[in-house]
Amino acid sequence: AGNGHGSEIKAQEWSFAPPFGHYDRAQLQRGYRVYKDICANCHSMRLLSYRNLGEPGGPEFSEKAVEVLAAQAQITDGPDDKGQMFQRPGRPSDRFRSPYPNDAAARAANNGALPPDLSVMAKARPGGPDYIYALLTGYAPSPAGFEMTQGMQYNKAFPGHQIAMPNPLVDGVIPYTDGTKPTVDNYARDVSAFLMWAAEPKLEERYKLGARIMIFLLVFAVIMYLSKRAVWARLH
Ligand code: HEM
Repeated sequence: AGNGHGSEIKAQEWSFAPPFGHYDRAQLQRGYRVYKDICANCHSMRLLSYRNLGEPGGPEFSEKAVEVLAAQAQITDGPDDKGQMFQRPGRPSDRFRSPYPNDAAARAANNGALPPDLSVMAKARPGGPDYIYALLTGYAPSPAGFEMTQGMQYNKAFPGHQIAMPNPLVDGVIPYTDGTKPTVDNYARDVSAFLMWAAEPKLEERYKLGARIMIFLLVFAVIMYLSKRAVWARLH
């Protein structure tokens, strides 16, 4: 409720819920896997670099793992000294590889619809990760009498219920190696958490600062109370 989409978007339980929450590292690592294997075929995340995947407060992949993940992407670089562009394996300092060279190419490959950049998507839509989870699990046959435009899919969470994005997730398409069940529900949950981290990488720091401020205010209140008593004691 209160997210502007009506009743189809339910609040989920997230490890990063305020005020003391934190990201679940293993979940963020699985979420990256889902992004990279599925979403990245159509969606860019231009604000992220591979090295971010190893930074504190995120998925915290090891330095070695970050190098491997970066090197899995073919990055266009150049021009070289002959004026040519060329492809090379990614480095940790590279931005995430975009699937299309530009928006026109992205639209051409998606029936005219533009897959939006996902860097800050979890902050850009009301409902944030709850919405993304609801969207990814919200595909269904269109109800009788609902008129569908050709090439669109029915989705319970999408405003207007007609979305140009084909249902991207199927049970079992991505193997999970940490014992988590490879289901659409878990993929959707994990990639939503990953996108939340991408949009809000300093969330844990923010919560910690908030906690410190609360402790300070408590201690300060006690000091003020005691000094008030000390000052006024002389007047009795
Ligand atoms: C739109 C997420 C995979 C194509 C979107 C939106 C989100 C999203 C959050 C925006 C919805 C809105 O505007 O409120 C994801 C995630 C994916 C994924 C997390 C992976 C699990 C894909 C794939 C394709 C695709 C594989 C291409 C085959 C599109 C298109 C749109 C879109 C064309 C624009 C839809 C419209 O405006 O009607 N996606 N997506 N997405 N996505 Fe994806």
